[in-house]
Amino acid sequence: MLPKMGDHPVLFLPGPTEVKAELRAILAQPLVGHRSAAFVAVVQDVCQRLRALFLTAEPAAFESCPATALMEAGIRNLVPANGRSLHLVAGAFGERWQQIAASCDRSTEALTVPLGQAHDPAALQQRLLQGPAFDAVCITHNETATGVIEPLQPLVAAIRAVAPHALVLVDVVTSLAGAELRFDDWGLDFAFAGTQKCLALPPGLCVYALSERARDRAATIAGRGFLLDLPRALQETNDGKTLATPCVPLVWALQRQLERIAAEGLPTRWARHLALRDATLAWALGHGMRPFVADQTARSPSVSCIDANGQDVAAIAKRASDAGFRIDQGYGTLKGKAFRIGHMGDHDLATLQCLLAAMTATSA
Ligand SMILES: Cc1ncc(COP(=O)(O)O)c(C=O)c1O
Repeated sequence: MLPKMGDHPVLFLPGPTEVKAELRAILAQPLVGHRSAAFVAVVQDVCQRLRALFLTAEPAAFESCPATALMEAGIRNLVPANGRSLHLVAGAFGERWQQIAASCDRSTEALTVPLGQAHDPAALQQRLLQGPAFDAVCITHNETATGVIEPLQPLVAAIRAVAPHALVLVDVVTSLAGAELRFDDWGLDFAFAGTQKCLALPPGLCVYALSERARDRAATIAGRGFLLDLPRALQETNDGKTLATPCVPLVWALQRQLERIAAEGLPTRWARHLALRDATLAWALGHGMRPFVADQTARSPSVSCIDANGQDVAAIAKRASDAGFRIDQGYGTLKGKAFRIGHMGDHDLATLQCLLAAMTATSA
């Protein structure tokens, strides 16, 4: 019989993910006013630290909302009212972004690949060359539903080469702080993530960066709204004056987490995620299952999707649960067939190995 983990179920979900006790303790501290000098300094410090996380010289900031709000804000701020957006769809979250753009009355088109596959930069380039021009290309860097990571750098290079007018909007919700991501070097215009994924904090805040090109574009677009008027929110938050009352304890926790991430070092953090993925997929292969994503280079460092190959996913999840862990039993049509293990955030190999041992049927 394996020992039970700790005092609460340990989350190996594709978000929300496990939060360290040190960070949970910060969340329980007595509140201060969000206009107090001490808190204003925290807000400004967090904005500076976020630039280091995105690897950008452009401004970055946070907002108190789920990531979906920034998917919508990206469209409202960066695609003109009569404009066109192209959506790279590799699963549910890419699809959601297209739906959001359509619901904002933008003209949308999808470039869709089968579940489990990533996009080919040459195919994207060909689509862009067919015209007419798009105002934005929206990419989900890490498709959480299927555990696919897109080849973001070559995709952006392909866009830049043939569609210089198109802004590059990227959902980095399950890649930021878990997979290599270079906002400036790769030429992104807008990228955003929620705190409940590789940042290993509770949900409630989003972080984002916006290029000068994107800020210039936004300045030409009317009806950007108030709270999520991105250039304005970016400026005011960087000045320490959030447009509305932020989730104060989460901002403290984010500041501490950004310190911890800087201490670990981004390359080390990315490598740790890759090691967790490799151990997870090796376990799957060793137990008669296989990675859902066939292309090795497209296998996500933060969430592994495992084709159960006919094995009982509910039984695997129950064994995990009995040992004090939580995993996901599959997204949408994959439920019960291909399950997901979110190995993102602050997880270490030793804890993952406990989960993998627990999931292993004793008769296997
Ligand atoms: C890739 C991706 N994009 C967007 C979202 C939406 O995030 P939220 O629930 O914070 O709005 C998720 C959530 O799982 C996600 O995985």
